Amino acid sequence: MTPAGDEWIVGREHELELLARLVDDPSAQVLLVTGGPGLGKSVLLDATARQARRAGTRVLRCRGCEGESELPFAGLHQLLRPVLDLADGLPARQRAALLGVFGIEESAEPADPLLTALGALTLLSDAANGGPLLLVADDAHWLDVGTLDVLAFVARRLEGEPLTLLVAAREGCVPAPFAREARTLAVEPLEPAAAGRLLDVQPRPPVGRARSRILEQAAGVPLALVELARAAGRDPAAAQDWTLPLTGRLEEIFAADLPGLPGATRQLLLLAAAAETAELPVILSAAEPPSRSRCSASAHCS
Ligand SMILES: Nc1ncnc2c1ncn2[C@@H]1O[C@H](COP(=O)(O)OP(=O)(O)O)[C@@H](O)[C@H]1O
Ligand SMILES: [Mg+2]
Repeated sequence: MTPAGDEWIVGREHELELLARLVDDPSAQVLLVTGGPGLGKSVLLDATARQARRAGTRVLRCRGCEGESELPFAGLHQLLRPVLDLADGLPARQRAALLGVFGIEESAEPADPLLTALGALTLLSDAANGGPLLLVADDAHWLDVGTLDVLAFVARRLEGEPLTLLVAAREGCVPAPFAREARTLAVEPLEPAAAGRLLDVQPRPPVGRARSRILEQAAGVPLALVELARAAGRDPAAAQDWTLPLTGRLEEIFAADLPGLPGATRQLLLLAAAAETAELPVILSAAEPPSRSRCSASAHCS
């Protein structure tokens, strides 16, 4: 059953049940949630966090973000910030290492990875003394390496602690320390019936041809269903012959993947975006390596 207050979540009964069991038994468990963008990983994590809080479990969260993925321990700082007041109880060297990497205290020695990880583990263990703890790390593919190493270190030492770690990452980008995690919940596209239900509960549910186009093109991805329905509601005429209009949110999601693509793929996408045609052969021919004569012309331009 969908938890109270989360009835708007369509489908996902099996996933929510599994996550609810995890919250009910917060004993040294790690679960990796994977899936493509927009499939609903964060929705599931948020629902689990809400349910945990209702059950009296303290929730600590961090979320990877592209702009901070190069900042050492940025994610760990976000995760531990609410319990940093417990740092006073840490063994002196662990305390100095942990607070040192956050720049809270000046550290005479260079950061020691083992002491830093131990400091985080002890801190979390102390926090869990006050009651069960759920750690949620969303968008782990964008977490900084320091944070990922500490999380993996903690995950390997959860035994005996009333502590659960939930990590979500994009399929195909699961950070190495968690890639071999045995317990994985792979979030799949919604079943057609659930996809239809999701369209039905939108503020302006699409009908007729627009509805079937959206169902076809969104392929069960909830974000695409929601956003395409919104776009079709805004521009019903375009939705009839379809050229699907993209919403800013969908564009953002697709654009976020661009930096990770190979240069040739990025160039091809750029050409496709700039081309005034959707004819693939034309776009591909424009992407072909330049002939001799064109080569000398382009050398001129650079
Ligand atoms: N099961 C669902 N029911 C209703 N809406 C959903 C569901 N899953 C996802 N969504 C919609 O899709 C959007 C994107 O989901 P999100 O959890 O952010 O995807 P992900 O984290 O996998 O990239 C949400 O903001 C929500 O509008
Ligand atoms: Mg997400």
